[in-house]
Amino acid sequence: MSTMTTDQTAGAAVDRSETETGRRKLFVKSYGCQMNVYDATRMADVLAPEGYDETGEIAEADLIVLNTCHIRERASEKVFSELGKIRELKMERAAAGRETLIAVAGCVAQAEGKEILRRQKAVDLVIGPQSYHRLPEMLRLAKAGPVVETDFPVEDKFDHLARPSNAKVQSRGVAAFLTIQEGCDKFCTFCVVPYTRGAETSRPIEKIIEEATYLVQAGVREITLLGQNVNAFHGLDENGAPCNLSALVARLSHIPGLLRIRYTTSHPNDMTDDLIAAHRTQPALMPFLHLPVQSGSDRVLQAMNRKHRVRDYIDLIARIRAERPDIALSSDFIVGFPGETEAEFQETLDLISEIDFASTYFFKYSTRPGTPGAEMADQVPEDIKSERLARLQKLTDAQRHAYNAAAVGKIMPVLFEKKGRHPGQIGGKTPYLQAVHVDGPDHLIGSEALVEITGTSTNSLFGCLAEQIS
Ligand code: SAH
Ligand code: SF4
Ligand code: F3S
Repeated sequence: MSTMTTDQTAGAAVDRSETETGRRKLFVKSYGCQMNVYDATRMADVLAPEGYDETGEIAEADLIVLNTCHIRERASEKVFSELGKIRELKMERAAAGRETLIAVAGCVAQAEGKEILRRQKAVDLVIGPQSYHRLPEMLRLAKAGPVVETDFPVEDKFDHLARPSNAKVQSRGVAAFLTIQEGCDKFCTFCVVPYTRGAETSRPIEKIIEEATYLVQAGVREITLLGQNVNAFHGLDENGAPCNLSALVARLSHIPGLLRIRYTTSHPNDMTDDLIAAHRTQPALMPFLHLPVQSGSDRVLQAMNRKHRVRDYIDLIARIRAERPDIALSSDFIVGFPGETEAEFQETLDLISEIDFASTYFFKYSTRPGTPGAEMADQVPEDIKSERLARLQKLTDAQRHAYNAAAVGKIMPVLFEKKGRHPGQIGGKTPYLQAVHVDGPDHLIGSEALVEITGTSTNSLFGCLAEQIS
């Protein structure tokens, strides 16, 4: 139950064959965080002028890109089993006289580099997240033999990534991601991100506004600003002065047609007063905050190098709720960090009970080579991690159900994003990021309407249209 483990496939099938058009087909599969989902769209954008159309069918792809995640062992090992299957596909296509290029992108590419070629010889290209603007060039080189590109180039990849067509933006839906910050300087002792994504960098304000404006005029109504530490954002404005996240949100809120702004993921230590206040003063900034805390034990937090205490987090939440009492909070937790005792785990459960989250994501600690956590004594046995995870899940499931149940009877603005599962149904999100299904006309997709919440299921709400508001 995590956004971090969903596998997403970019693109829909395009009904043209290579022989008819001379164009080729691209299949991108993303693992891991939203940043990879965003990167998948940008890789497709840079490859479109090269003659690649996206497909949802891996078997018909001339180029397969695995956009990988290194955060936990299972995520990164999955890549190699997937590559084994893709190798067979490549051989079958070769027997039919069709060439298939295989590229490994994302954080496993960055972390493992040429080791990937050693483990799977069918791979043609290994390319790190900072080099996606060089994909066309690298693919040309890969025709002559395997290529590995994991340098951190000096140029800004975002300056060189092609812009998608309006039709392409529309096909991706009304809610879009926009990466504004990359990398991390925090070095939590369990985490690979500072190694795979490099040092923290922020994009210039002008470029972000330009991209957001472009997305909105093509039909996007909600933008989620992305960064590994998005609230540490400090991009330069037009005068070369650093601008923080709340100032960026204020600038973005002037874009006509942009109804909703969200941001993720934040670090508690970068939650500034003005950003907290923006949740009250900026109507477009949604009342939802994902603020990972990882543990409810001061000793564990210190061993994790999180640089704050449990009390700081509790006080911070109180300040946020004072500004925006209805804000929905979510968090990430790691269970079984080295040395975590039963009493320390109990402190995590206590913190979760005290804060009362709308949703939570939790992970068994996974030892990552090269991180300080991997060298720590007292690694917690798997069976204890599993047992703690189950208890944590029980508590957080109950909180999530109670949170959703409390919505029943309320009237909320819902931004409709897509058709529902059943005919005549449409689906959207509340300001609090809850999925809602209602019976309603397709033409509401892309607009907000008031919905009365009538019921809940495991992961979503049901409602009926009250009145259209935009
Ligand atoms: N930058 C974000 C999140 C990055 S990774 C932040 O600071 O919160 C997303 C989540 O994966 C983390 O919040 C953490 O809960 C989890 N995670 C990271 N490394 C992990 C590891 N080695 N084992 C288990 N979970 C991990
Ligand atoms: Fe990883 Fe910590 Fe950086 Fe988040 S803040 S990306 S958990 S090192
Ligand atoms: Fe995974 Fe890299 Fe994101 S390790 S969580 S894809 S930053």
